[in-house]
Amino acid sequence: MSAATELATVAEAVRSCTSCPLATTRNQAVAGSGPAHARVVLIGEAPGAQEDAGGQPFVGRSGRLLLTLLAEQAGLARDEVFITNTVKCRPPGNRDPRISEIAACHGHLVDQLSALASSCELVVTVGNVATRAVLRTREGILSLRGVPRQVEGLAAPVVATIHPAAALRGGPAAVSMLTQDLATVGRLLGAKVA
Ligand code: URA
Repeated sequence: MSAATELATVAEAVRSCTSCPLATTRNQAVAGSGPAHARVVLIGEAPGAQEDAGGQPFVGRSGRLLLTLLAEQAGLARDEVFITNTVKCRPPGNRDPRISEIAACHGHLVDQLSALASSCELVVTVGNVATRAVLRTREGILSLRGVPRQVEGLAAPVVATIHPAAALRGGPAAVSMLTQDLATVGRLLGAKVA
């Protein structure tokens, strides 16, 4: 099966998924978007209100910050990256996803990473929820961020960074951490950035 077909199969499974109670409160599940041969897979936490309404990941304010910095620091445009979330349905009121919801959704993420395995050179996890789910740790983002790490079952290294919503809340020092980590992503990819 081609990567595109595998990703389309996962997207269909996500759209019809009823494995956790978020299925009853979502407007729509947000499977993810991007090319089937992406070099970089970006994994966020969960859709917010705008993503739940529009069906695309990272289209709200924090997503715009993340994708602007990714373009500036790593030379990557939105349509060059496969973007998805740890949990594919919006938690009501944007509360943190529950452990049971993360577990119920994990198979979809594993299937997406497997579909993208032949092209993926780097996985970027954004925030505590994605980083802990992918690196299988309870450590916090501030001690994990910015350093490439290998994880069993994934050929590509994982670079964690802070969530852009936390960067927006945290002010210049927090934005600077996100900027530095995305510059590391650019270096690891050998990006030529102006
Ligand atoms: N925050 C996330 O983690 N993912 C989105 O898609 C939007 C906001």
